[in-house]
Order: sequence, then C-alpha cells, then structure tokens
Amino acid sequence: MNVQTRDKAGIRRQILELVSEYHEASESGRAGFAPGHSTVHYAGRVFDADELRTLVDSSLDFWLTAGRYTESFESGLAEFLGVENVLTVNSGSSANLVAFSTLTSPALKDRRIVPGDEVITVAAGFPTTVNPIIQNQAVPVFVDVELGTYVPALEKIEAAIGPRTKAVMMAHTMGVPFELRELKELCERRGLWLVEDNCDALGSRYDGQLTGTFGDLATFSFYPAHHITMGEGGAVATNDDGLARIARSFRDWGRDCYCSGGENNTCGKRFSQQFGSLPFGYDHKYVYSHIGYNLKITDMQAAVGTAQLRKLPRFIEQRKANHASLAAGLANLEEKLILHTCPEGADPSWFGYVITVRPECGLTRNTVVAALEGERIETRSLFCGNLLRHPAYEAIQHRVAGSLTNTDVITSNTFFLGVYPGLTPGMIAHVVDVMQRVAG
Ligand SMILES: Cc1ncc(COP(=O)(O)O)c(C=O)c1O
Repeated sequence: MNVQTRDKAGIRRQILELVSEYHEASESGRAGFAPGHSTVHYAGRVFDADELRTLVDSSLDFWLTAGRYTESFESGLAEFLGVENVLTVNSGSSANLVAFSTLTSPALKDRRIVPGDEVITVAAGFPTTVNPIIQNQAVPVFVDVELGTYVPALEKIEAAIGPRTKAVMMAHTMGVPFELRELKELCERRGLWLVEDNCDALGSRYDGQLTGTFGDLATFSFYPAHHITMGEGGAVATNDDGLARIARSFRDWGRDCYCSGGENNTCGKRFSQQFGSLPFGYDHKYVYSHIGYNLKITDMQAAVGTAQLRKLPRFIEQRKANHASLAAGLANLEEKLILHTCPEGADPSWFGYVITVRPECGLTRNTVVAALEGERIETRSLFCGNLLRHPAYEAIQHRVAGSLTNTDVITSNTFFLGVYPGLTPGMIAHVVDVMQRVAG
C-alpha cells in the first residue's frame, strides 16, 4: 500500500469514527417518554450509528448511482428471502410499476398482459398497488376484503376470475398474508400471474414460507414507515431469471443490455447481434426492447439499507411483540371493536394494529381517533379506504366482483395504530390505557 492510499484509508476510518461519536452525542440527553406529552408515532426510522457510517462511507466513494452497496443490499435481501433475483428500485410504487410492466413484455408472448385484460385486486389498500394496472390500460377487478384480516378470502378471488383475467396483484395489507399457498395453486391452475405487493409485509410467513417468495414477482418498499428503510427505496424479487431480465430492462430505460453500471460486454456479443431493423452489430448497450423508465436507486440509499438489513430479524420480532401487547391489552374491547387478526397459517410481520369500530356500537371511528390524537397517539387510516371513492378513480374502467360492503365499512370505521420497533412498553401501555378509557 503506498503512503497516499494508506492516508486515504486512515482518514476514512477517522471520519467514520467521528460519525459514531456524533451519533452518540446526538442520542445523549434525549428526554424520556411522558404519557400525553410525548408523541407516540405510528411508524418511523429506527437506526443507530451503523446507518450513519454506511451512508457517509458511500458518500466518500462518491460513486452516487447504484454501486457496491446496491450489489451488497440486493444479494443480502435475496439471501434473506431465499430468492434468485432482487432488483432495487427507487420506491415501493416503482417496484409495483416495474413488476406489473414486466408482465406486459412482448417476450412473454400470449401470456403477456395487454390493454383490456383484467387483473384481480382490492380497493382497500394503497393506490400504487392498483395504479400500474390502470397505467397499462388493463382493467382492475376489485374484490371485497374481510374485516379483521383486511385481505380477501380465496373464494372471492376465485369467483372474480373472468375470461380476460390474466393476473392477481394485491398486497399483504398491514403485513397480513392472504391465503398464499392456496392462491398460488389457484393461479397456476387457471394460468394467472401472481404479483405479491409485499411492501407492508417483509418477514411475514405463510405456511412457514416468507411472503414475497410465492408469487411470480413480489415488491418491497423501504420508505421510513416500512420494516426497513433507505429513505426512499424499493425492490422487486423473483425466482424467474427471464422475468428478472425483463424487470431490469423496464427499470433501466427499457434497454436490452443487462450489464451492471460501469460494466461492458457481459454477453460477449455487444457488437455482433441483429436487433429489429437496426444495422447489424448496433451497440447492444443502446438497444431498447421495452418502453422503459429509469427507476434505479443511488448507492447512498442502498448503503443505509445494508445496515438496516442487519437489524431486520430483530425488527420483525419487535413488531410481533408490540402487536401481541396491543392484542392482549385490547382483547376485552371485542364487543365494540373488530380486533386485528390473520388467516390460519399466517404468521405476520405486522405493519400496524388495525381496528374497526363496530357499526352501531355507540362509538365512531372519529371519536376514538380524536381521543387518541388528543393524547398525542398517532393514528392512520387504512390507506385510501375504498379507492373507487377518490376523485382520480371515479371514471376509471373497472369491474367490481360481488360487492365492496366491507371496503366501505373500512372507509368510515377503520384506523390503525403503530407497532414499529421504536415503540417502548411504556408507550404501548399508554395506548392501551387511552383505548380502555374510550372504548372500555
Ligand atoms: C401496500 C403498499 N404498496 C406500495 C406502497 C408504496 O411504497 P412507496 O411509498 O415506497 O412508494 C405502499 C406504501 O406505503 C404500501 O403500503
């Protein structure tokens, strides 16, 4: 090692040590929790000096776009999930866009989704699970969900299948797996694609197997409210190498070439192929096989993600423990509240604790939420409630299979509380105490 290299490495080490010291200094003297005065957040970033160090380390590389930390994050998440391919993207919404667009590729021949094809989904969820269906001129078919689990029953999905149905794409809402094994079998039997929006459910299991590993494609979000964060970020996972290559193309401008950033000629045929009516040997790096996007992340985001990934097993356990504490504390309120549960065989890595105030019980969602917020306990609606009631969706082409009765109940009677790892037993006790006062 020459002097200059040693100095650079030494300086980097020193900077990273200072970063740790900075973090320690900013943590010391933090005030304790005061019920009714301190905010009980519904979600948030949970991090320590590790995340700050990896972030600064990547900034010193100044590689900026996807690089060594991205590779490390993608292989780390692939290993955690036990899947062949993970591609990072810049949000969970982008992950859904890439996953759905993948299924429109001409490379899939008669299985590709074309305008007018139907895709089964739910209206009680997050809009960007549904948006890619609409953006690709396919037709969303909405099924109702069950109160308590907030995912649809298998029979409702089966009954919604029509002659133009090509796929099922929906979320494990609030971390609760739908009946995945059975649905996967149904999709295989009926020749349908299955896309799992796993944005709320990293670490959930069904029949002992991780969600996000059953479907043809699965998506993840790393927004701060989610199980791990990189600020903005997401991922697409698949065991199918062909789908992974298409997804990468949609993510990376639509190009046909699959070299990583900074690489050239991985295929060995960069200047010796025929594409469309281009001159023979046109540079493969600039050949486009899809109408694509650029949805890549930066290496700084991935750097934070690598540190978060190391904490994931602990985060999952803490989410489960916090959910269990709320479940125990609220169990006696069942007469007035529909408490959060999951289908048999599911082992959720919960996103939140969902409560529906029973219609006609003498309470309303708004009075319960007002009491909680008045005690500085944050609450959230179950995302958009009935998506079809929002201005942007009033005129979309769609089909409703059956009714959306429960979806409408959710719109007016449901909210959720946090279970994220930043909550302490004192905070959870305060939440239970306020809930007992309001609904006991
Ligand atoms: C189920 C679901 N899918 C997709 C998303 C979008 O993720 P992002 O905010 O990273 O775009 C969210 C966001 O919370 C979500 O809950």
